[in-house]
Amino acid sequence: MNNMGPYDEIRKKFNWNISENELGYKDGDDINIGWYCSDRICDQGKGEKVALIWQGFSGEVKKFTFNDSRIITNTMASFLQKTGVENGDRVCLFMDKIPELYFGFLGILKMGGIAQPLFSAFGGESLITRLEDAETKAIITQKKHLGKVRKIRDELPGLEYIIVVDYDGKKPLQEREIAFSMEDSEKIEKFDVFRSKAETPSVLHYTSGTTGQPKGAQHVHYSLISQYISSKYVLDLKDDDIYWCTADPGWVTGTSYGIIGPWSNGITQCVLDSGFKAENWYRFIEDQKITVWYSAPTAIRALMKEGKSEVEKFDLSSLRHLCSVGEPLNAEAVLWSTDTYGLTFHDTFWQTETGSMVITNYPGMEIKPGSMGKPFPGIEATVLDLKTHEPIEKRGVVGLIALKPGWPSMFRAYWNNEKTYNSKFINGWYVCGDRASIDEDGYYWFVGRDDDVINTGGHLVGPFEIESALLEHESVAESAVVGKPDPVNMEVVKAFIALKPGVEASDMLELEIMNFIRKKLSPLAMPQDVEFVDSLPKTRSGKIMRRMLRAKEWGEEIGDTSTLEDD
Ligand code: WT7
Repeated sequence: MNNMGPYDEIRKKFNWNISENELGYKDGDDINIGWYCSDRICDQGKGEKVALIWQGFSGEVKKFTFNDSRIITNTMASFLQKTGVENGDRVCLFMDKIPELYFGFLGILKMGGIAQPLFSAFGGESLITRLEDAETKAIITQKKHLGKVRKIRDELPGLEYIIVVDYDGKKPLQEREIAFSMEDSEKIEKFDVFRSKAETPSVLHYTSGTTGQPKGAQHVHYSLISQYISSKYVLDLKDDDIYWCTADPGWVTGTSYGIIGPWSNGITQCVLDSGFKAENWYRFIEDQKITVWYSAPTAIRALMKEGKSEVEKFDLSSLRHLCSVGEPLNAEAVLWSTDTYGLTFHDTFWQTETGSMVITNYPGMEIKPGSMGKPFPGIEATVLDLKTHEPIEKRGVVGLIALKPGWPSMFRAYWNNEKTYNSKFINGWYVCGDRASIDEDGYYWFVGRDDDVINTGGHLVGPFEIESALLEHESVAESAVVGKPDPVNMEVVKAFIALKPGVEASDMLELEIMNFIRKKLSPLAMPQDVEFVDSLPKTRSGKIMRRMLRAKEWGEEIGDTSTLEDD
């Protein structure tokens, strides 16, 4: 029997109070995610249960119980406080998927800080943009990423503390740098957890848009109410499960469902701190006897490429439930998983802004391969007419996915950017920025994004951020960045570049530009393809027509070009 029961029944009777009651929370109470994910589980007598099974890239395994987690997160919270971090300060987590990242996240929340996780592959420019915008007070990092932080710290006078979790004493620390050791610090048994309330800010996740620099989606502690119950219903987490979320906490899946969801449910979860390799992934499932697996279409397509023969080498019989998020999960991948694992990947749709799953497939509900499923109980969803922004009554018509505001984990602001935040709400709906249609049975079918944001392997990258960085290259006069179809990553970044007068296009220059972006921004933002052009198509008002370039890449109709500059 699954946790949720029949969809139609729960949909009718669902109320967020169900989640509040299970968590023992009442309106006006204190609610601190850090406490809920560690202390509360210990209070329930599960202190000796394993919370985290961690495996490093060289194969070493470490295990931590919920009681270990409680003490380590106390220790980290207390250290931050003593260092000078105050509640409300932004504390950036800039680490690989090491245990300190997971416990640091909860430690920050326990002392009332706002956790700002950033992907450890980010380069200097990506870091500066996000740390500057958030006016981040402290960054927690590792030796291997310290070089990147040192390069930019002079531009960030407000970044007062650079905390290094694996300092080995070999080279002296520099200004603002402080060592912290999770293992060697004095253990703090009792910590006075910050008495946050429902609307106290908790997490700041940066996400990319079409225009301007990335926006910080700010969440609150009350988000727990959504994250807890959706983990229970959609991931179907039960007491004896061993759960694996493959996402990095630099992205929202890795915090909502790679920390908060499973641990607030008192579930054992696994982390594999190494890149994708089919063999290693399957071995990890076999070794740790993973039962519930939350991953992404890009990974699933990569596993498909490796084929069934790779699967047969391993004993994956512990698996019982599979879910996916981040990009459209094509019907073929769904059918393949049923055929190969004897289990069907359940697609889930949501965003950084929604904080938790909003349209998904449920255990026990009939799956239509290729569909994202139905709205989570408690979420009112629809599609809006592309022009009038009124809900479309007729089934099968493509519109904008929209949600009625008010679910607990909805973002409460874009940091410093009220205007853009407000622009996401139209006619009383939160508009996601994606297009879909709803069929006769109420299932949602994803069509595509409604803007120029590029989704590469489940990671959103903003064309503007890449274009701005390209302009800093000495040879580039103008550029336009679009998504180009890719069989595994769905999209990869393609850059159209007009060179400065006198500069010759060459393969060397192409490579140089790719590397320039990889270092400055990240490997995800790096163009996989560079096309040198004489000029870029622009509107009469001078805006680059990315859509036209994109349509060409996708072999689509170019559409209305009447606003083109030189038609
Ligand atoms: C965007 C949000 C939330 C977890 C990871 C991404 C796309 C997400 C699906 C899906 C089709 C999907 C949308 C969405 N997306 N899940 N199941 N099917 N598209 O979070 O970085 O905020 O990206 O990812 O375009 O708006 P994010």
